[in-house]
Amino acid sequence: MTAIPQSHSPAGLEFGPRRKSFEIEAALATDWHGGSAFRTAWFNGMSMLFPLGEKFFIDSVRHFADDIEDPRLLEEISAFQAQEATHRRQHQRYNEILCELRGYDLDRIERNERERIDWAYRELSARRRLAGTTASEHLTAILADEMLTRKTPMAGADPTIASLWLWHGIEETEHKAVAFDVHVAVGGTVRERRHALILNTFFFLKDTMRNLCIMLQKDGKLWSLREWASGFKYLFIKPGILRRVFIPWLRFFRKDFHPWQHDNRYLVDAWEQQQAASDAPATDHG
Ligand SMILES: [Fe+2]
Ligand SMILES: [Fe+2]
Repeated sequence: MTAIPQSHSPAGLEFGPRRKSFEIEAALATDWHGGSAFRTAWFNGMSMLFPLGEKFFIDSVRHFADDIEDPRLLEEISAFQAQEATHRRQHQRYNEILCELRGYDLDRIERNERERIDWAYRELSARRRLAGTTASEHLTAILADEMLTRKTPMAGADPTIASLWLWHGIEETEHKAVAFDVHVAVGGTVRERRHALILNTFFFLKDTMRNLCIMLQKDGKLWSLREWASGFKYLFIKPGILRRVFIPWLRFFRKDFHPWQHDNRYLVDAWEQQQAASDAPATDHG
């Protein structure tokens, strides 16, 4: 046991996987985000990145588990792995159902990401791959914070699919510092993380847009000016998700940055209370 804590999560933070099941089949066949083809394809396009991406995150953190001595961080690593494994399974199911229902080519959609992950294993050290995970976790954490803080990003969406995204956002919030703390503990540098954020942001946006284009093309809406205009408005003006996460995104470049400098545990508490109070569409089989 080490005298120096390696976990820098707030005192009292505890988390683990929640077993959920979401009845999403019927809604996935439709433009479930308020009837908007663009918004639907934006979220569906992101979902396509999770099964492969989250496996990469799990493996990159697991690689260093033996180098960690702080029992609290070791516990958080286990919880992180368990949460991401559940996300993978839910999004794999989501993606398979979606592609089946709407005729999208899952293999083609995942190809670029699969090739890039192969590249990362060939060309990058384990510590660089972990830096990549800290960057991706920052992206998911700031997008989750935006989605959970303001109701507008999910306004008009099918309630069951929205509840899946909110549940994922809650768990991304809880484990947002795990990869970061491991990277710091094993000697990872600020420079490695900054570099990774630039690279990963570029590829995250590129892949999501590519997936979105493949889907809109299949739906016969790729050249609809109306869809693109409303999509641009959604991302950059109102609610302006990408515009609004820009400042939180930049904070990662600060020398003394840590994900829990923004303590948003109240979002988790509020969500838990809501789950307990309402007949949520998500069913707990725990
Ligand atoms: Fe996740
Ligand atoms: Fe995550």
